Amino acid sequence: MPLVDGVATGPGAYVVTGGFGALGLATARWLAEHGATRIVLCGRRGGDVRLSGVDVVVVAGDIAEAGVADRLVAAATADGLPLRGIVHAAAAGDDVEATWRPKVLGARRLHEATADSPPDWWLTYASAAALFGSPGRTAVATADAWLEAFARWRRSRGLPATTVHWGAWTADPVLDSMPVAEGLDALPAVLASDLPSVGIARLDVGRAAGLLPRRPFFSALQADVQPSPAGGTPHERLAVLFAGLLGCPPGAVAPDVPLVELGLDSLTATRARAAVEREFGVALPVPLLLRGADLDDLAEYVTSPAEPVRAAPRVLREGEGTPVLLFPSAGHVALVEHLTVPCYGFEPLGPERCVELLRTVQPTGPYRLGGGLLAFEVAVRLTALGERVDVVVLVDATPPATPMPPYPGRVVLFHAEDDAALGWAACCADLHVEVVPEDAEALARRLAAELAGHPSPGATPVSTLEEP
Ligand SMILES: NC(=O)c1ccc[n+]([C@@H]2O[C@H](COP(=O)([O-])OP(=O)(O)OC[C@H]3O[C@@H](n4cnc5c(N)ncnc54)[C@H](OP(=O)(O)O)[C@@H]3O)[C@@H](O)[C@H]2O)c1
Repeated sequence: MPLVDGVATGPGAYVVTGGFGALGLATARWLAEHGATRIVLCGRRGGDVRLSGVDVVVVAGDIAEAGVADRLVAAATADGLPLRGIVHAAAAGDDVEATWRPKVLGARRLHEATADSPPDWWLTYASAAALFGSPGRTAVATADAWLEAFARWRRSRGLPATTVHWGAWTADPVLDSMPVAEGLDALPAVLASDLPSVGIARLDVGRAAGLLPRRPFFSALQADVQPSPAGGTPHERLAVLFAGLLGCPPGAVAPDVPLVELGLDSLTATRARAAVEREFGVALPVPLLLRGADLDDLAEYVTSPAEPVRAAPRVLREGEGTPVLLFPSAGHVALVEHLTVPCYGFEPLGPERCVELLRTVQPTGPYRLGGGLLAFEVAVRLTALGERVDVVVLVDATPPATPMPPYPGRVVLFHAEDDAALGWAACCADLHVEVVPEDAEALARRLAAELAGHPSPGATPVSTLEEP
């Protein structure tokens, strides 16, 4: 049986609750890549997921309802397959009732259902909100703290259990976002850790201490943070960084030779931007790199006062082609996986500021924007500035509160409520609507297709909508 750091992740059955959500589905894929025989996915709405070489079983149901967890375990262990692992990633809502139901009651149901057939390992997904606190997310923080206590309680009875307090997989005001692959890369270590709880987050301690000044934890960490192991002047550090990207010795990166003459292209420039942001906390505009900047220019840029990094666009996907720009990027992990073009995520700042920031990654149109109301507001401003906006793709977005002249460009709205679609109809001249697909994976695929410029045959022109 293949082992990942000594933990069985090979043949056998696995249960993933919240299996159609962002983290649940990513984990199911990871399990499939690591030799799972059968994966049982659970969500209230169910869904259609295929994973190559794996027997995927879908159990649609509310994990908090009596009997659903039993059905999951029965489906997993049918034909005598051993139950290797459980990933409890079901989550919903922000208020106490909605949050506790899947997380807390769901965990208890799974515990009861596996009493006679304990798995080799058990992971409950929680969030860093329980570690650091998170203003406005009290219900999530307390439910996640309960999950951690529950893991300790299970372990005191000799049962496996680890709670993973994940940091942000998408843009977050406090934590740096973690690419999906990076989160999944941590799983072997989590499984091998044999700890009741682990926290995995990209943390900029200085920023967190600034944003959450009353958390002594961050101040203590800040005192412990060592200077970057890559010492030296900014010139020397930049030379090492670009040498790595360009595949040459640091001495070959002359300070006064434009980097484009040393082989820097748009793809490397995007990578360089992310690497410089990590190293110096400064977001370099890609156009600056491509317009012939040399190391002298960059050293000056990274040492001069720069905009706070939290305002900088996040590189969610590298690549070539017209980028997809998400306002805000939170909640679109699965979408990014389906894109083949670069993708940048923006903080929920004002639309004017967002326009300034988007020009640092894409100076001119045509633009492809996605997200909520903010994406639409950015499109309105860009159009007023004479820029071309190919498409704005909105998901369950609230229409503008104040009346406005109809926006002329193409808007595709994925909505759950007809009322919202009618609200949008009043301010869009070319609106297409489509009901949000049942599972997150299908939604992600549809969003990626629209943003890549492949209009849906299923989207309904707004003229067919009627007032109730
Ligand atoms: N995404 C992140 O960046 C992030 C960061 C830190 C921590 N986390 C934690 O990781 C976990 C998963 O997050 P996520 O981002 O993957 O969430 P998500 O995308 O919203 O997915 C959650 C899934 O749970 C399902 N679900 C909700 N209530 C359920 C119930 N009663 N029974 C069965 N299934 C239910 C939902 O499907 P239905 O609606 O069809 O039931 C949904 O597909 C959560 O505990 C979250 O706090 C996530």
